[in-house]
Amino acid sequence: MRSEDSDRNIVLVGFMGTGKTSVGKILAKRLSRPFIDVDQLIEDAEGQQISDIFEQRGEPYFRTVEKREVASAAALKNAVITTGGGAVLDPENVAALRRSGTLVSLTASPETILGRVQGSRHRPLLNTPDKLAEIRRLLEIRAPFYRCADYSFDTDGKTPAQVADTILRSLSGRI
Ligand code: S3P
Repeated sequence: MRSEDSDRNIVLVGFMGTGKTSVGKILAKRLSRPFIDVDQLIEDAEGQQISDIFEQRGEPYFRTVEKREVASAAALKNAVITTGGGAVLDPENVAALRRSGTLVSLTASPETILGRVQGSRHRPLLNTPDKLAEIRRLLEIRAPFYRCADYSFDTDGKTPAQVADTILRSLSGRI
């Protein structure tokens, strides 16, 4: 490992329901690094749940707060950072996260995502009658943005622990 790599963050990006938070927590534990979830930073800073921020302030306001919290997460060192599924739609967020660490994208099929987000309360974008159609539509728009990552791992049919193991094996010596 190059010495300058030792304090770089590991940043998980990807669509809702790809397991970023579950996998990120395991990675942080295994690597003895702090775990930082940008969605949680947003809720803590605003004193409100994400669904309420969307409902009461609107998505543009949410994205402004998200950008500020991405910047503060990116200023940290040696952490495992998880981002909300829309964070990488903003090129300045991507630039800040890239400067701060290694970007790891998690992917999953629309059907897997649907199964994982059923009943979730912090995905206001999926509050639609036909969730699967909306997941497919957003995935198509967003797929190019998730390609900003240095590494990509498919999570279909895998537990968060299995995904974390694969990431640790693949990045061994580089993180
Ligand atoms: C969003 C994803 C959510 C959360 C917000 C918006 C998105 O995070 O930031 O509901 O635009 O995809 P998760 O990816 O952790 O669900």
